[in-house]
Amino acid sequence: MTTLGIIGAGHIGSQVARAAVAHGYDVVISNSRGPETLGDLVAELGPNASAATAEEAGAAGDVIVVTVPLKALSQVPVEPLAGKIVLDTNNYYFERDGHIDALDKGETTTSQMLQEHLPTSKVAKAFNHIAFGDITTDGAPAGTDNRRALATSSDFDEAAAFVTSFYDELGFDTVNVGPLSESWRVERDRPAYVVRQNAAELTDNLTKANRLP
Ligand SMILES: NC(=O)c1ccc[n+]([C@@H]2O[C@H](COP(=O)([O-])OP(=O)(O)OC[C@H]3O[C@@H](n4cnc5c(N)ncnc54)[C@H](OP(=O)(O)O)[C@@H]3O)[C@@H](O)[C@H]2O)c1
Repeated sequence: MTTLGIIGAGHIGSQVARAAVAHGYDVVISNSRGPETLGDLVAELGPNASAATAEEAGAAGDVIVVTVPLKALSQVPVEPLAGKIVLDTNNYYFERDGHIDALDKGETTTSQMLQEHLPTSKVAKAFNHIAFGDITTDGAPAGTDNRRALATSSDFDEAAAFVTSFYDELGFDTVNVGPLSESWRVERDRPAYVVRQNAAELTDNLTKANRLP
């Protein structure tokens, strides 16, 4: 049984938790205010889910999902995530996160920033370009005509392979963008961002992306 440790219990964190428990994962989920504020969500998720602090969720998870606003990235615990696959849902909204010069200039990516914060973890981009509600409603069995595709990106084949397998379980095809340095292709305001697309359309949209929007 794989345990998913989820750091962030908002729109995306709660939806990834719902999808994960529905597919047989154990979930340990956390937010910024403490596990006592997650009672309703954990009750809804059922016996395979529990609430914890971010440190505890990081320690409990075999695989971790980091799904907090980018401005909170520096608060993500480092040591409990060491050596683990970390799924990164984050996007950059300067209106929310403040301006980050290296992102504004196209010199890094949001996922490279998380990888730098977690130097011994294996970061993979996941779920960053799908509206949260669609995670539990838009999946379809493998082989379905026009199945929706989602992108991943990682510097570690093992992490990209996990995301590919997890997407497939949840009902999505995968397009691998390549290393994290290429993950800007699926960041905000690019053609692949938060639109429904199959694998061929996603691949096409990735090639159309411009580094600076
Ligand atoms: N919304 C979408 O459809 C969507 C789609 C794709 C990607 N994304 C991206 O995914 C990320 C999360 O988005 P969201 O919409 O889920 O955000 P959200 O609804 O605002 O939820 C953010 C969650 O992060 C928690 N958090 C904040 N700081 C934390 C910390 N230091 N430690 C632990 N937890 C912390 C918050 O806890 P509290 O509730 O206690 O404050 C909250 O549970 C963002 O980067 C967003 O841009 C969003």
